[in-house]
Amino acid sequence: MMKKLFLIPALFVSSFVLAQNTIALFANKGKDTINKNIYGHFAEHLGRCIYGGLYVGDSNKTIPNKDGIRLDVMAALKKLKVPVLRWPGGCFADTYHWKDGVGPKAQRPSMLNVWWGNVKEDNSFGTNEFLNMCEELGAEPYLSGNVGSGTPHELSDWIKYTTHPNGSSPMTDLRQANGRTTPWKVKFWGLGNEAWGCGGNMKVEYYANIYRQYATFMTDWGNSDKIYRIASGASDDDYHWTEVLMKELPLKMFDALGLHHYSVINWGKKGPSTNFNESEYFATMKQALLMEELVTKHSAIMDKYDPKKTKSLAVDEWGGWYDVEPGTNGAFLYQQNTMRDAMIAGSSLNIFNNHCDRVKMANLAQIVNVLQAVILTNDEKIILTPTYHVMEMYNVHHDALMLPVTVTSADYTVGKEKLKAVNASASKDKNGVTHISLVNIDSKKAQEITIIVNGANYKTVNGRILKSDKMQTYNSFENPDTIVPVAYEGAKLNGNKLTVKLPPVSVVVLELK
Ligand code: AHR
Repeated sequence: MMKKLFLIPALFVSSFVLAQNTIALFANKGKDTINKNIYGHFAEHLGRCIYGGLYVGDSNKTIPNKDGIRLDVMAALKKLKVPVLRWPGGCFADTYHWKDGVGPKAQRPSMLNVWWGNVKEDNSFGTNEFLNMCEELGAEPYLSGNVGSGTPHELSDWIKYTTHPNGSSPMTDLRQANGRTTPWKVKFWGLGNEAWGCGGNMKVEYYANIYRQYATFMTDWGNSDKIYRIASGASDDDYHWTEVLMKELPLKMFDALGLHHYSVINWGKKGPSTNFNESEYFATMKQALLMEELVTKHSAIMDKYDPKKTKSLAVDEWGGWYDVEPGTNGAFLYQQNTMRDAMIAGSSLNIFNNHCDRVKMANLAQIVNVLQAVILTNDEKIILTPTYHVMEMYNVHHDALMLPVTVTSADYTVGKEKLKAVNASASKDKNGVTHISLVNIDSKKAQEITIIVNGANYKTVNGRILKSDKMQTYNSFENPDTIVPVAYEGAKLNGNKLTVKLPPVSVVVLELK
């Protein structure tokens, strides 16, 4: 009798656990496109992001380069299909005077980079170098204008220098004198960065007025330059910031509001990038998954003023932020990148994909050698990080039709706290191929997932997986290929039912035809 009593609940529990992870895929209900700019990046004059990371100087003979731009880094970024790149900051943007960074390099004045270690900035990498690099990369530039310490005149001159036709102003003459005969294409312009902080410590009501002033002088009444203006947006859950901007900015004067959210445990005690424990991992993931709530609530405010969703939310800084690597300059924000970062990347990109009706751009901070970088460099060596591999695996979602999914997930529990273990997003590309990206953030348990397909009859399934035995694993300069995506054989398709098993801390991208 006793035995029976134990047996029945045990069976019940085990089938209940199995049934916990279910995903319904609605393959014929797609209506919004995943803007590829969700897969954007960010490069600031900070630490070794520009100097040493992207640019080594045109006189460098030891690291292969073209006009000073590293060839190895360019090749890796081309494979990533970087769609958009934000520059020159960050906090640096509101101290940057672009005219110091054009013309003969020997004549460019230097400045102190006050936000990032008070190091000397010699301005050898400036507008021409950045825009030429974007052209080479096939990425759209996103220039972050100086609103904090610049002038509307300076910003308007920058637009003329970069985009106006030859012979139309002294700025285009200057461009020609500097060796560039045709305008570049620069659509995306930011009006200041973190205006609530390093961009001027402004109150939102004040910034809204400043924004209107700067936006006015960027172009003409009808915005014939077709400039896409992005307002400096809220930090995290500062919903008041979004509310005031939506109320105070005329809809015709802006195209997007920014949003910055970092997955940081505690600004005073961020913890190590590699040698972290389970509770630090959990705390980071809690911050990363908070993005869902932030995007939902900021979008809901935007919906009140812009129900047709003509304006976007640009999450123009996101990613993990930890203590710098021991022995490195504290102001350079150089950190390693583990499977924890792969979890942040996979989960955040799933969130952005699922909110692609409002989120049209996101920029991971930052592209090389700073924060959650996709590439790390050490002199002539480079590493592709786990974050790089997630971004590359998710390339399939670029400009694809988002297919809605509903996810019922088991819990990932640490102590008394829990998070959803599984998250996902799906899309159909221009060739009619469906992709589902799945993440299991649970550090110990594999997750079996049943995916019910509605509205399609798939015949084949293939996939790739990024995984590691330990969540602290990373690619080092000695062992750069410890974590790389491999073929995934664990998906079984049976009619409209697809079953997959995701190991702990893993990312899988499936292709269904
Ligand atoms: O990405 C590093 C810094 O974080 C940026 O300069 C700033 O915008 C943010 O606070």
